Amino acid sequence: MVKAYAAMEAGITLQPWEYDPGPLLDTEVEIEVEHCGICHSDLSMLQNEWGVARYPLVAGHEAVGTIAAMGDNVSNLQLGERVGLGWQSSFCMACSYCMTGDHNLCAQAQRTIIGRHGAFADKVRADAASVVPLPSGLDSRTAGPLFCAGITVFNPLVQFNISPGDRVGVVGIGGLGHLALKFCNAWGCEVVAFTSSEAKTAEALELGAHRTLNSRDADSIGSAAGSLDLILCTVSAELDWGLYLSTLRPKGRLHFVGAVLQPLQIGVLQLMPAQLSVSSSPVGSPATIAQMLEFASRHDIQAQTEHFSFDDINSALAHLESGEARYRIVLSH
Ligand SMILES: NC(=O)c1ccc[n+]([C@@H]2O[C@H](COP(=O)([O-])OP(=O)(O)OC[C@H]3O[C@@H](n4cnc5c(N)ncnc54)[C@H](OP(=O)(O)O)[C@@H]3O)[C@@H](O)[C@H]2O)c1
Ligand SMILES: [Zn+2]
Ligand SMILES: [Zn+2]
Repeated sequence: MVKAYAAMEAGITLQPWEYDPGPLLDTEVEIEVEHCGICHSDLSMLQNEWGVARYPLVAGHEAVGTIAAMGDNVSNLQLGERVGLGWQSSFCMACSYCMTGDHNLCAQAQRTIIGRHGAFADKVRADAASVVPLPSGLDSRTAGPLFCAGITVFNPLVQFNISPGDRVGVVGIGGLGHLALKFCNAWGCEVVAFTSSEAKTAEALELGAHRTLNSRDADSIGSAAGSLDLILCTVSAELDWGLYLSTLRPKGRLHFVGAVLQPLQIGVLQLMPAQLSVSSSPVGSPATIAQMLEFASRHDIQAQTEHFSFDDINSALAHLESGEARYRIVLSH
């Protein structure tokens, strides 16, 4: 039996819950979970904000642990190996996206906490193709957040050929945003942090920003007019997107990784003259995750974490919801 923490109905009060995972599939591995980060998407799923939750719901998709069991057809991993698992747990491996390395765009991709049970548990299962070994230079205690938050902000740098010397704005300095500051700084970019929290202004500079602006103040945002090549928006709140577009240089891009639910109020005539783009992306492929982990190891990039025991999971969820987390909460066994 797998010993998990589950929500029985919409909300962030979890309780211990056991389930039988059944026989291990040929292509699957079972990971003994040591640490698991808490992503805002876990909160959104537990509260059924996206309307796709099924209960009992076991969330948790920033897992680090060791391989405890492997299916007969698994050849890319070893028993006992240190690995991580993120938002996606399985791919069809046959569509043109899987065949060209864009697994994260596979229409059949399964999400770790949708229609499956996630890693707020002692064990979690996934197809071996979605599980990535941890380089020896990375600390298991802080590596979990790289598997969702980290890859989500690293992937756009790869997808859009962001160069050293490009200027990147990061909106929202939470779990995703604080890692974005670190990655963009190490990538060589000039980095502007947009935060709504006065208290994070100085910390953002330590995390890698060269300048901090107020994400909700028109004059502050306006001071960056015409300066940025890429904006990575990690908030799920509605902001003045037209104002953010005015901070882009020609060919600049406003890129959403935060799950903003309100329709965007954006005029084409604001995009046209400077050939601006508006886009969004889900996490990143297993190969890009491996590339991101190597980059993080080489540049000593770690999530800044706060640690809770799994038994204290309800306090940890409440702490994230309060907006006080600095900057990623990690649960440990
Ligand atoms: N695209 C993907 O594949 C992907 C992957 C993972 C997560 N996500 C989504 O990304 C979003 C962020 O996740 P996270 O784990 O980083 O969340 P988080 O740790 O809660 O951080 C979100 C940040 O947004 C800012 N914020 C919150 N409320 C705000 C408001 N009313 N106005 C302005 N700013 C506000 C805050 O930063 P400041 O204090 O600096 O303002 C907060 O720290 C979520 O929507 C999540 O579902 C998407
Ligand atoms: Zn996530
Ligand atoms: Zn596929």
